[in-house]
Amino acid sequence: MGFLWGSILLLCGVVLIRTEGSKPQQTKNNIPRLKLSYKEMLESNNLITFEGLANSSAYHTFMLDEEKGRLLVGAKDHIFSFNLLNISKDQAQIAWTASSTRRDECKWAGKDLSRDCANFIKVLLPFNQTHFYVCGTGAFHPVCSYLEVGKKPEDSLFRLEPHVENGRGKSPYDPKLLTASMLIDGELYAGTSADFMGRDFAIFRTLGKHHPIRTEQHDSRWLNEPRFLGVHLIPENDNPEDDKIYLFFRENAMEGEHAGKATYARIGQLCKNDLGGHRSLVNKWTTFLKARLICSVPGSNGIDTHFDELQDVFLMSTKDPKSPIVYGVFTTSSNVFKGSAVCMYSMTDVRRAFLGPYAHRDGPNYQWVPFQGRVPYPRPGTCPSKTFGGFNTTKEFPDEVVTFARSHPAMFNPIYPINNQPIVVKTDVDYQFTQIVVDKVEAEDGLYDVMFIGTDMGTILKVVSIPRGSWHDLEEVLLEEMTVFRKPVAIKAMELSTKQQQLYLGSDIGVSQMPLHRCEVYGKACAECCLARDPYCAWDGTECSRYFPMAKRRTRRQDIRNGDPLTQCSDLQHHDELSGQATLLDKTVYGVENSSTFLECSPKSQRATTYWQYQRSAEERKQEIRSEEGFIHTDQGLLIRTLSKKDSGTYLCQAVEHGFMQIILRVNLEVIDADRLQDLLHRGEDAATSVHAQEFTSREPPNQKLWYRDFLSLVNHPTLNTVDDFCDQVWKRERKHKKQKAHLVQQVQTQQQQQQKGVVNAQNSVHMQGMASKWKHLQERQKGRNRRTHELERAPRSV
Ligand SMILES: *[C@@H]1O[C@H](CO)[C@@H](O)[C@H](O)[C@H]1NC(C)=O
Ligand SMILES: *[C@@H]1O[C@H](CO)[C@@H](O)[C@H](O)[C@H]1NC(C)=O
Ligand SMILES: *[C@@H]1O[C@H](CO)[C@@H](O)[C@H](O)[C@H]1NC(C)=O
Ligand SMILES: *[C@@H]1O[C@H](CO)[C@@H](O)[C@H](O)[C@H]1NC(C)=O
Ligand SMILES: *[C@@H]1O[C@H](CO)[C@@H](O)[C@H](O)[C@H]1NC(C)=O
Repeated sequence: MGFLWGSILLLCGVVLIRTEGSKPQQTKNNIPRLKLSYKEMLESNNLITFEGLANSSAYHTFMLDEEKGRLLVGAKDHIFSFNLLNISKDQAQIAWTASSTRRDECKWAGKDLSRDCANFIKVLLPFNQTHFYVCGTGAFHPVCSYLEVGKKPEDSLFRLEPHVENGRGKSPYDPKLLTASMLIDGELYAGTSADFMGRDFAIFRTLGKHHPIRTEQHDSRWLNEPRFLGVHLIPENDNPEDDKIYLFFRENAMEGEHAGKATYARIGQLCKNDLGGHRSLVNKWTTFLKARLICSVPGSNGIDTHFDELQDVFLMSTKDPKSPIVYGVFTTSSNVFKGSAVCMYSMTDVRRAFLGPYAHRDGPNYQWVPFQGRVPYPRPGTCPSKTFGGFNTTKEFPDEVVTFARSHPAMFNPIYPINNQPIVVKTDVDYQFTQIVVDKVEAEDGLYDVMFIGTDMGTILKVVSIPRGSWHDLEEVLLEEMTVFRKPVAIKAMELSTKQQQLYLGSDIGVSQMPLHRCEVYGKACAECCLARDPYCAWDGTECSRYFPMAKRRTRRQDIRNGDPLTQCSDLQHHDELSGQATLLDKTVYGVENSSTFLECSPKSQRATTYWQYQRSAEERKQEIRSEEGFIHTDQGLLIRTLSKKDSGTYLCQAVEHGFMQIILRVNLEVIDADRLQDLLHRGEDAATSVHAQEFTSREPPNQKLWYRDFLSLVNHPTLNTVDDFCDQVWKRERKHKKQKAHLVQQVQTQQQQQQKGVVNAQNSVHMQGMASKWKHLQERQKGRNRRTHELERAPRSV
């Protein structure tokens, strides 16, 4: 039975392909090499999920604790602790709700009780060796507390201190808003919204021994409805007095900076040792500066397309702690043009912008221009330290410095990405990027940054950018696209554990976990492993597996830069043969004269294109089949519209990828005329019952006998005139079939009945001709997936 359903469904696939045939072919570069559905991820053990609690949501605040092997997650009314090895193993949870009084107040203030009047955890940061600092929205009344986890994993402590602190300036009031926060030396830096109405946005420093300090209030030059996305400490030099805090956010452009309403992506800086001004800017930052981050591509009309909606930032550390690489994920502001991009920035360029001219204007009706006058000393933005001027604190800064800083928070020059262009751009897709993490992977031919990009549709893209000739010419290779949530929801949190080699993902509906690599999925041959160009994977002589640079080098084959299986694998072909594995899928297909047939051939790699050749007999030359004269070439295979006797012969399906070609399927097509068909059919009667019995034991009846069973299934329904009707029936039957699966005995009976009916119908039919035209050859789909590599040759230049 299994075979019959599989093959008939394929027939329905043919119909689908036909309708799609007219669409222009997508460019192959922008599609993932491997695409795995949610189901495929689960079934291949590449995904572990936490489906969420019925009374919670918004699993958005992640804190990775590699030392204790735990992932802490802040959500609606709850804090969770997951095991990093397997998030569904021994999770712990604490319910932390807002009091009913707070919830009532929230409701009376006009907020949505069920949606917003809850405690959404927004801050979850390591405080000391035993405690985390946690803050939540507290039903529009932010609160903070301490979470005890103990010193060692064995302590298995997970307890919230009953004492609650005021969370203003730490967590937003509104659960829709974000906080970017960081805790160092007992002080909390937070970019957030600090009032009920969501109008007072600021960067705060609270906790610790100093007086709280913040950005200037009600000054749109400082901050203009910002959305904070990240905060990081980056040393400026070897003197810790010069340490700076960098904040990443998007905000409305300053008044007069842009015609109309526009969003700008920003990086802001502060000195860690800023204590505020003495006479002016008291308890306000005196070292705050911001600059615009540009991420754009040139348009054909000379107007650049800007990606300004910064969504997430990831800092990739380098050998030099002063110079991490900044990865930013951006989307477009346009409602019409949906697009996403990743841009990469160097700290050298960031510092250059902060050392450049300040943005200045003489009054509300003037343009913003680079400030040309005398800049007071020490230059606003520099930290009080021995390095520059020997000031002990910002309180000692001359008044003119503080006054200047207050009115010139923005830099004039923007920061352009490395190579002046994005490293990843995605347009014309129905999703947008939301999150990014990057992993540095050591491969045989160098170090690669592998990006994991989360989308608003519950998928993860794994992308590596590979230098073509130099670092100025990068090739974006989309390795995998994986669905990690059961519904298309936005991925709002992402953490990568290098120790566990796992990725953790958060959304509104739950938490998911997946390994960083699935080398075995790329295939069972050296060439397939090589073509994948996944820096995590290499051919180890027998299979595609995780590459460890430290391990003793045996016959590791890997070529990320060129993905050239010829240099890496050609000497292995012989070995493949010796190990007795079939290298090429060979099959025989029967077709009936004047009917159509579909030869399925879809390479596992979505990047590969297929190319068909025809050979009448072994002696004759192979010739290329073009999409014409009744041959329709699709990504899934070759459709032959009307078969004639002369179409009999061998069809070779070749996958062409990255300039390399491999034959993946050889089909021997035999075209049968109607007379012979009748003949064969009568012979089939006797065999029918025995084939059917065999099927239940092996599920793989002999190949030659398959074809006429397909035929019988069609003869079963002489009244069905169109393929659409037929498919419709099959889908219905397949659903029924699934229900019956549990009752094997019953199924056997049904099948016997059907089979008998089929034979009777066939006997009764007098008009064989009509049937023959209905007949389509149906192929076994499964086989096409298990094909192996065999021949390798350079692709012709024309391909
Ligand atoms: C939510 O439900 C879980 C059980 O499903 C329970 O343990 C938890 O206490 C509930 N939380 C709240 C806030 O009621
Ligand atoms: C994770 O843990 C669950 C529950 O113990 C178990 O069913 C599952 O097989 C585990 N998965 C992996 C990949 O270890
Ligand atoms: C960590 O901070 C908490 C909260 O202030 C305190 O109770 C605890 O004693 C501290 N632990 C250590 C090891 O300092
Ligand atoms: C900084 O402090 C040192 C000692 O604490 C003092 O001698 C020096 O005068 C101070 N510098 C300024 C500019 O006030
Ligand atoms: C196939 O079609 C051709 C031309 O239309 C016709 O001459 C021939 O009889 C048909 N053969 C069968 C078996 O229907």
